[in-house]
Amino acid sequence: MQRTLVLLKPDCVERRLIGRVINRFEDKGLNIIAMKLIRITPDLAKQHYAEHVSKPFYPGLESFITAAPVVAIVLEGLEAIQVVRDMLGATSGLKASPGTIRGDFSSSRQMNLVHASDGEEASKREIDLYFKPEEILEHTPVLTPWMR
Ligand code: TYD
Ligand code: MG
Repeated sequence: MQRTLVLLKPDCVERRLIGRVINRFEDKGLNIIAMKLIRITPDLAKQHYAEHVSKPFYPGLESFITAAPVVAIVLEGLEAIQVVRDMLGATSGLKASPGTIRGDFSSSRQMNLVHASDGEEASKREIDLYFKPEEILEHTPVLTPWMR
């Protein structure tokens, strides 16, 4: 099992696509083990996007990601990191394939709706940035009464 950090970015929240995006992850068989609505500060944005801080697109990216609340989620599942990256599609909504979240809902390079960790190291680092250990509530599947 793997964990991955997902952010539903300000455009996703503002466009009221939270439910539809989360539906896709649940339909795929991923479990939500932590989730909260937060406002990213400029300081947190710089930590989250440390690899991009010196790039020309960073100032615009920081303005965007701090402009409105985001939903931070930890998803858990088999090969969750790659599975979720594949579900997002290419970075630019214009380039992302139809059938992916970005491909189906975004036509923007910047406003591409969803972030997901791009590897095991990033996943650990990003989960620690957004969640305290006690906010992560792992739950193993059990047979629930309505299934018996
Ligand atoms: P990146 O890590 O390259 O993409 P991904 O989100 O697919 O891992 O870039 C981080 C975010 O920065 C990306 O989601 C959108 C934004 N961005 C731009 O605004 N302009 C750009 O030219 C690039 C490469 C990214
Ligand atoms: Mg990235």
